[in-house]
Amino acid sequence: MNYTYFNPTAIEFGSGKISSIVNYIDKKLKVLVVYGGGSIKKNGVYDQVKTALEGYTWLEFSGVEPNPSLETLNKAVKIIKDEKIDFVLAVGGGSVIDGSKYLVAAALYDGDGWDFLDGSKQVQKALPLGAILTLPATGSESNATAVISKKSTNEKRYFGSPLVYPKFAVLDPSVMITLDDRQLANGLVDAFVHTCEQYLTYPNSSLLHDGYSQTILKGLHNLSLNWENRRTALWQENLMLLANQALNGFIGSGVPQDWATHMIGHEITAFYGLDHAQSLAVVQPYLLRVMIEDKKEKLLQMGKEVFNMPQNYEIVIEAIEFMYQSIGVPTKLSAYKTDNKVIQNITKALETHGMTALGEKGNITLDKVAKILEMSI
Ligand code: NZQ
Ligand code: ZN
Repeated sequence: MNYTYFNPTAIEFGSGKISSIVNYIDKKLKVLVVYGGGSIKKNGVYDQVKTALEGYTWLEFSGVEPNPSLETLNKAVKIIKDEKIDFVLAVGGGSVIDGSKYLVAAALYDGDGWDFLDGSKQVQKALPLGAILTLPATGSESNATAVISKKSTNEKRYFGSPLVYPKFAVLDPSVMITLDDRQLANGLVDAFVHTCEQYLTYPNSSLLHDGYSQTILKGLHNLSLNWENRRTALWQENLMLLANQALNGFIGSGVPQDWATHMIGHEITAFYGLDHAQSLAVVQPYLLRVMIEDKKEKLLQMGKEVFNMPQNYEIVIEAIEFMYQSIGVPTKLSAYKTDNKVIQNITKALETHGMTALGEKGNITLDKVAKILEMSI
């Protein structure tokens, strides 16, 4: 194996940890608190942030939407520049944290911030960022990636830079009490697929990486089996831990990675507005079927280690499907409102974005994507 693993984000895990943000933000800094549609005002998070920031100079920017848009975020970039903000504090789910990663990079850039998303420019500098997570799912709180949508062109793209790692991430599971079933299920599915993208490829030589991924997958599967306990502190705490580790960087370091389900899913969300996790659940089972020859060894391993069904790798795909359905997440695109151009729209967008050879072997071509979508409709 051969890799560099680097994760500089300090994790503050546990109830009451929001107050610890003062240990990371110098009092001299002018802070912009960024949040979404207002859920943080219903669960006491906003009040806790306000209390912690007593004595600081701070402003706020709200209204970052799910699948954060460039159009909304650019309004915050202007505020950061006009008000000479020194530190951005993201308070929310993956959308708010991703949006804030864009803000810290775009605020110190003179051109159009979309340049980072279309890959024409790399981030050269960024303001410091901190995160208070309210929805465990994406792992964004301690990784270097952000996914941003451009509403005007139906595009959803990502960028990554070590400069946008949050300095700290507060993971207080007690803030999850206001999450509805849809978001809890989304978080579970997203974290499960993140782990699969870094595990369900072809055999590698590391016992540690596979063992760690299998622990995460088993944990998430257990949470789905214990869905009736989803309102308990223990269940929610475990989801927060598992989702964080699923995309914190380690399990993917030095091993083959897929990410095709995500790339196809992002295009589906951009066109048809499915939640991120919903888009994954309608792609992954069919992608695994279309690519079964390439993935059968790891599917067999997953069956044995995660689902306790060592016999047949085809049933493992059914077990994954059943798991998503059992927590209320459909596995067919036909469960959602799309149109008769869906295959054309998605394959064309992937082509435009240069994603014509996806997967761990680069052999998920556009004709395979068309087949995957056809099976899901
Ligand atoms: O906006 P508010 O009012 O806060 O409501 C949000 C939003 O409506 C609500 N919510 C969040 N915390 C809550 C809460 N409601 C009640 N109680 C709470 N404690 O949940 C809704 C969805 O939030 P959002 O942030 O959109 O969800 P999620 O965390 O799933 O993030 C999805 C975004 O992250 C991207 C996705 O593509 C999508 O844009 N991803 C980011 C990744 C990364 N940075 O590494 C990787 C992922 O694969 C993913 O692509
Ligand atoms: Zn995801």
